[in-house]
Amino acid sequence: MKISVIRESITAVEADAVIVNLFQGVESPGGATGAADRATGGLISRLIQSGEFRGKLNETATLHFPPGLPQRKLVLVGLGPASEFSLERVREVSAAALKEAARGGARRIATIVHGAGIGGLDPGEAAAALAEGALLGSYTYARFKSDPGAPAPGELVVAEMDEKKLGAIEEGVRRGAVLAESVNFARDLVNAPGNHLTPAALAEAARELAREIGVECTVLEREEMERLGMGALLGVAKGSAEPPKLIVLRYARDASRPLVALVGKGVTFDTGGISLKPAKGMSEMKGDMAGAAAVLGAVRALALLGAEVNLMAVVPAVENMPSGTAMKPGDVVKAMNGKTVEVDNTDAEGRLILADAVAYAVTQGAQRVVDVATLTGACVVALGRLYSGLVATDDRLAEELLKAAAAAGEKVWRLPSDPAYREQYKSDVADLKNTGGRDAGAITGALFISEFAGDAAWAHLDIAGTAFAEKEKAYTPRGGTGVAVRTLVRWLMS
Ligand code: BES
Ligand code: MN
Ligand code: ZN
Repeated sequence: MKISVIRESITAVEADAVIVNLFQGVESPGGATGAADRATGGLISRLIQSGEFRGKLNETATLHFPPGLPQRKLVLVGLGPASEFSLERVREVSAAALKEAARGGARRIATIVHGAGIGGLDPGEAAAALAEGALLGSYTYARFKSDPGAPAPGELVVAEMDEKKLGAIEEGVRRGAVLAESVNFARDLVNAPGNHLTPAALAEAARELAREIGVECTVLEREEMERLGMGALLGVAKGSAEPPKLIVLRYARDASRPLVALVGKGVTFDTGGISLKPAKGMSEMKGDMAGAAAVLGAVRALALLGAEVNLMAVVPAVENMPSGTAMKPGDVVKAMNGKTVEVDNTDAEGRLILADAVAYAVTQGAQRVVDVATLTGACVVALGRLYSGLVATDDRLAEELLKAAAAAGEKVWRLPSDPAYREQYKSDVADLKNTGGRDAGAITGALFISEFAGDAAWAHLDIAGTAFAEKEKAYTPRGGTGVAVRTLVRWLMS
């Protein structure tokens, strides 16, 4: 869906459907909604007076063939109380209104920027949120459907009369669209089935992306990883017929800045290995590369937006399988930083591949490292499917990420990183073991990874509970959510 901005009244814009809004409790609409009300001879006012429409958040009312307007459909969307309005509500309302407007096959839909007038929000930020809500909410994954269903609208036209706001709105729409399309790029990867998205296919997708956005891409093969001593990553890969790949992207727009590394867990399917998972719900493990998807999506957005950063993305891509060549519980592997790890459970594979990927990023000069991973079921137990978990050994980095998440509209909660938790993953036979028991599993899993970060400032986002949605919510359809893309982009753009 293309999004364009024009200077025109909503009552004149050429479109199949038009979207206007109303705050809860308002009796006589103003602004663009007022203009539509006057054009229709007061139909919107009568809708309000009759009690048919109250302006509750995400409530919609549709007038078909509204008299006095050139469009065949007018959608009125509720913004909730003016005092509670926010950018997050713009995203929600934008998605809800677009869905209603698109019903019946409207191809060209016009809208105003919710909140940029009476709402008092910054017009550029509101326009970005509008574009995000529209593109995120209308996402579908139809790659394997013979009948893809009704097509999404072809164009969303943002109409604004105020000349002074037009520049900011155009810029905001562009920024929001790039961001949302990058989230949708990540969603496509997460939704892709394991037989299609193998480590090699993920590497190919990264190469293609790099070509498209003009960043450098290198893929390390098994032999190179052997030479580098990445025994933890290679141990996980051993059980699979699919060769492992270490994907490295570099975007050094400003090489004078300290190097930041984003590291994303890329387990293209996690059976658990010899410590095999139960069958129930195992198909969700095709999404065990959601950290990788988030990192690639973030690089996509940052490069297209021209962010002034010195950035490296590292994605260890493997498949975790049980087989005659698979790693066994009790095996000892050695990571590239020389630390030895007793593999207590082959299903704790994420921290093993991230150990080598984080160590690699540090040898490449990364001074700040953020890894993103569907790491632990324990994080889902702790925070549910609402919040991603944050564990960090660097308070400043943690604060920056929390602030970025809030501004981006993603929920992140920090867990403690007390060094005393490290006791739990001491091994009798090696330097560390890859499990820390049931207690505080999200924390011990995360801190295990920090053992490989050297002197770099390190933080970790556990997205096990948030990467895959079981229920549709506001602008997030079922399936891969593309979570963490927006937080990472916000963080590196500020
Ligand atoms: N990929 C899983 C974590 C996961 C669980 C992601 C639920 C998404 C939804 C991870 O590799 C895993 O299996 N972790 C184990 C670790 C344990 C063996 C220490 C877990 O959480 O049970
Ligand atoms: Mn696992
Ligand atoms: Zn896993």
